[in-house]
Amino acid sequence: MRAGWYDKTGPAYEVVKTGEMETPKAGPGEVLVRVHASGINPSDYKRRANVKVPAEFPRVVPHSDGAGVVAALGAGVSGFKVGDRVWVFSAQWRRDMGTAAEYVVLPAHLVNHLPAHLSFDEGACLGIPAMTGYHAVHLAGSVKGKTVYVPGATGRVGAYAVQFAKWRGAKVIASTGGGAQQIEAVKALGADIVLDRKASDLEAQIMAATGGQGVDHIVEVDLPGNMSFDERILGERGTIVSFGAASVPSIPVAQVGRRARNMGLHFIFVYLLDDATAAAVCAGINECAEGGKLINRIGGVYPLAELAKAHHEAETSTATGHFVVQI
Ligand SMILES: NC(=O)c1ccc[n+]([C@@H]2O[C@H](COP(=O)([O-])OP(=O)(O)OC[C@H]3O[C@@H](n4cnc5c(N)ncnc54)[C@H](OP(=O)(O)O)[C@@H]3O)[C@@H](O)[C@H]2O)c1
Repeated sequence: MRAGWYDKTGPAYEVVKTGEMETPKAGPGEVLVRVHASGINPSDYKRRANVKVPAEFPRVVPHSDGAGVVAALGAGVSGFKVGDRVWVFSAQWRRDMGTAAEYVVLPAHLVNHLPAHLSFDEGACLGIPAMTGYHAVHLAGSVKGKTVYVPGATGRVGAYAVQFAKWRGAKVIASTGGGAQQIEAVKALGADIVLDRKASDLEAQIMAATGGQGVDHIVEVDLPGNMSFDERILGERGTIVSFGAASVPSIPVAQVGRRARNMGLHFIFVYLLDDATAAAVCAGINECAEGGKLINRIGGVYPLAELAKAHHEAETSTATGHFVVQI
């Protein structure tokens, strides 16, 4: 089969290769998927680029997310048939064979039916970003009737969080540092109020929008950078869900104010969702998508032969949306 890989970590143009390798076979409980689109996430290029550690395996076929068609079923797999359109996740988590190849073999619980109206390119967006956004919205309970604040709403995860929160009946306040065009783009995702996160009166605007009560739930892309701000705009019994640390890796924790407000603080590492939670998250994503309610934003599409370029662009481009490799 055709595949892309790296044998050592380093810059995309130096280490990413494409060529032929042996096609894998589905074992018991596994599904062989003919991959048509492979999604690139920050974790994919961060692992490849991190020269402080060697590659996890002698050869890594990168990418966790993808979409394609079931090509074969291992013994004992139910719920799928050959030819089914599917989207997959966590393909390269603790495994050497990800989705940047014509075929990938995965345990059946990492495979989901692809809603009929979604393209393979869109299906390749759903894994890490949609699962993180969905889990971040739901993990502290129902958001129906609550106010959810999503900073970084133009991001891959943030854009899904905006949509899932709105779909679940929350009032969504979002912000972006991307200027007027991005503000309009986030409004198109369904956010009720979209603010300039660099505005000097952002805190006052959020408090005014919540009648002085503060927001109920925050889906946070940069906890260390925004913690002190978030604490000021969070209402009583509010929760912050952190999935990223864009500025610095750690923050000091002061307890007093948080305890007084019964604040909840949660962390997400999407690769480590337990199987039942992951299944519920995937089912919820499909339910939302099947209702025609999910916008999947494609930022760039590349053929497998240009995998190195695709990695480089995903890593360096300021374009919003998902980078997809077609196979
Ligand atoms: N924990 C997990 O399981 C998990 C899962 C997925 C991703 N992640 C991590 O989460 C991060 C974001 O991933 P992504 O794919 O959504 O990236 P992305 O598409 O590049 O989006 C990140 C967005 O965050 C916004 N932003 C940057 N700094 C910010 C700040 N200080 N405050 C508020 N917003 C800020 C930017 O939007 P504006 O400039 O428009 O505001 C940017 O577009 C990455 O570091 C990724 O590795 C973690």
